[in-house]
Amino acid sequence: MQVLKLGGSVLTNKEGYLEENAEGIASLAKMLGKVWKEGIQDIILIHGAGSFGHPLVVKYNLDNGVETREQKLGAAKTHSACTTLSNLLVSALISEGVPAVSIPPAFLGKLENRRLKEFNRKPVDKMLRLGYLPVLHGDMMPDSKLGCAVCSGDQLVSWFGKDAKRIILGTNVDGVLADGKLVPEIHMGNFEEISAHFKDTTYPDVTGGMSGKINELLGLGVPSYIVNALHPGRVEALLHGKKAICTLVH
Ligand SMILES: Nc1ncnc2c1ncn2[C@@H]1O[C@H](COP(=O)(O)OP(=O)(O)OP(=O)(O)O)[C@@H](O)[C@H]1O
Ligand SMILES: [Mg+2]
Repeated sequence: MQVLKLGGSVLTNKEGYLEENAEGIASLAKMLGKVWKEGIQDIILIHGAGSFGHPLVVKYNLDNGVETREQKLGAAKTHSACTTLSNLLVSALISEGVPAVSIPPAFLGKLENRRLKEFNRKPVDKMLRLGYLPVLHGDMMPDSKLGCAVCSGDQLVSWFGKDAKRIILGTNVDGVLADGKLVPEIHMGNFEEISAHFKDTTYPDVTGGMSGKINELLGLGVPSYIVNALHPGRVEALLHGKKAICTLVH
């Protein structure tokens, strides 16, 4: 099984508010339709929230606990927006011949202080076994300390990635960059040095942007590829086990 994450930075315009990137969604759905027909169907797809998540979390102040009525409305709105984005992606996939089903993580998992502690993956594995493409996404989720909190797509990647043969993280840059140059590989040995090059994004990313991503991947023991999904051909190559321009984290 392989875990593919499509970043909110590719499926949406992250500078905006609830703005999809229709072109990005269509081109990735087309690529996945092709890959599916070629027989690669052992995929769990996870996607980020982009402008359907991060700006709402900031607007409704959801990152330090959800308690007040306004915050609960904000959390409900954020969850709803994430499912809207998910359905846009799933509709595009179905049009390309992929039997994709969106499975909202909100009702399957439990956080403790923003960290995923429990996740009932049975519905996901069942749909995969039945020949569907399960689609999960960054979501608001119950949190035993905070009421509700954000469970990032990246955190779901590390949860499902533990059993994967490979993890592919599609985002809006060619991989991890240091002084503008692509870092081909990150491992325990050079992580410290490379982490000096992690910068904040110009748009809101409440789950830590690139450094959040790498932290989820290190220590998993599964080869993980950070790749530019604005070039679907690169993701396609990696799904086939071929080489592509990317950063390998291992
Ligand atoms: N050293 C770095 N190399 C590459 N990108 C970096 C680096 N430091 C910070 N970034 C930022 O990380 C961003 C990618 O992470 P981000 O979390 O925004 O994307 P995503 O995971 O695709 O989106 P989402 O979180 O909505 O799913 C890049 O666009 C870049 O601005
Ligand atoms: Mg992110």
